[in-house]
Amino acid sequence: MSNSAQIGVTGLAVMGRNLARNFARNGYTVALHNRTAARTHALVEEFGHEGDFVSTETAKEFVEALERPRRLMIMVKAGEPTDAVIQEFAPLLEPGDMIIDGGNAHFEDTRRRERDLRDQGIHFVGTGVSGGEEGALNGPSIMPGGSKESYASLGPMLEKISAKAPDGSPCVTHCGPDGAGHFVKMVHNGIEYADMQLIGEAYQLLRDVAGYSPAQIADIFRTWNTGRLDSYLIEITAEVLSHVDAATGKPFVDVVQDRAEQKGTGRWTVQIALDLGVPVSGIAEAVFARSLSGHADLRAASRELAGPKAKPLGDSEAGAFADRVEQALYASKIVSYTQGFHEISAGSDQYDWDIDLGAVSAIWRGGCIIRAAFLDRIRAAYDARPDLPSLLSDETFAQEIAAAQDDWREVLVAATRQGVPAPGFSAALAYYDALRADRLPAALTQGQRDFFGAHTYRRVDREGSFHTLWGGDRSEVEA
Ligand code: 6PG
Repeated sequence: MSNSAQIGVTGLAVMGRNLARNFARNGYTVALHNRTAARTHALVEEFGHEGDFVSTETAKEFVEALERPRRLMIMVKAGEPTDAVIQEFAPLLEPGDMIIDGGNAHFEDTRRRERDLRDQGIHFVGTGVSGGEEGALNGPSIMPGGSKESYASLGPMLEKISAKAPDGSPCVTHCGPDGAGHFVKMVHNGIEYADMQLIGEAYQLLRDVAGYSPAQIADIFRTWNTGRLDSYLIEITAEVLSHVDAATGKPFVDVVQDRAEQKGTGRWTVQIALDLGVPVSGIAEAVFARSLSGHADLRAASRELAGPKAKPLGDSEAGAFADRVEQALYASKIVSYTQGFHEISAGSDQYDWDIDLGAVSAIWRGGCIIRAAFLDRIRAAYDARPDLPSLLSDETFAQEIAAAQDDWREVLVAATRQGVPAPGFSAALAYYDALRADRLPAALTQGQRDFFGAHTYRRVDREGSFHTLWGGDRSEVEA
């Protein structure tokens, strides 16, 4: 077996197969391995003409086919299947070799694996790959973590197969050591959830309050996609909403069960944010909205609860309302991205990753699910001020959100009055108002905590912690 393959891919389901093809199409010799060899043979049979594949049957053959330092990419399910594949291959590798995990692994699993393999001199590169099947084949956004040494060897290859941003730059960056790449991918998915929830709320408001049909709403999204909301998710929303179900002739969106599923990366984003103390309310509402939609029995039992049913506006008002919804959607989107980038920054500090937020937004301009012109604006904001405390501190975004104020609030008044749930829009505005509030009810919370738990509080007029003797003369003592 010649050891000429620059990269090996084990796990040839759709994502693994398409990444292997992408590497081969870009001129690399690609070693192939799959637990069931039939899948390996099928790939070579169907796509062997696309490049130089080395088909292997066993782990030993697979490793022997790789040039040094060996680059072995795992594309299997996150969790135990990934650990099993690592255990199978690690003993066959030598110091300096690398294992790349392109699955949606939890970053803490990646940190553990990187630590364990580092002791054997093997680089473990947890890598976020975003863009679905099409992205894997034609150019994903790639978010590798791991050591600088591994990126020196692997980076140029990833840059070659990645999506390219509008300015031609590859949508890859070394996110940082150990689990940084999978952490960034996790937050990408959390932002994706928030984006999708906000789009869903805009759709429902245009449907129920403006009274538009799915086809009309598709046209509205197509128009929005030519402006500041230009993005993959807005683009595909127009496609989904304009699609007609062949079996019934009804709008496709009306024949789909309204119960959203989730593989878990959005949930992780919120769980980690809770641990980091980062308010990602937009992402959290998106996760909860998916969960709520799945409680069919609870929803059925609640259907008759008192509350308004939306009465569609007249044609003359519907257009103006749609313009307001665009403002609310864009303002809420700025808030969701502000929260997501805050989480990345907090994770970077917590785990000492030194993540470059400008570089992360730059690689999200192409290939990934949240790809959008908007991300180039975020890149510019962080490149101009790497220490930007929040995206809302960027003058341009602050001005845009200021301009959206009235419409944003009007849309929420309409949603509230008409009984249309808009948890994402509401959470975004509540976050925004809380950030800019002179005083928050947290002062009362501290008083309550001190009353029932003697948990102490701080004063606005002097240093220190204090406790009030609530059960006695209510005098104040320094804690
Ligand atoms: C991507 C996607 C992908 C995601 C699946 C399922 O970046 O290509 O985010 O990684 O996991 O599309 O997502 P959910 O089931 O969590 O919605």
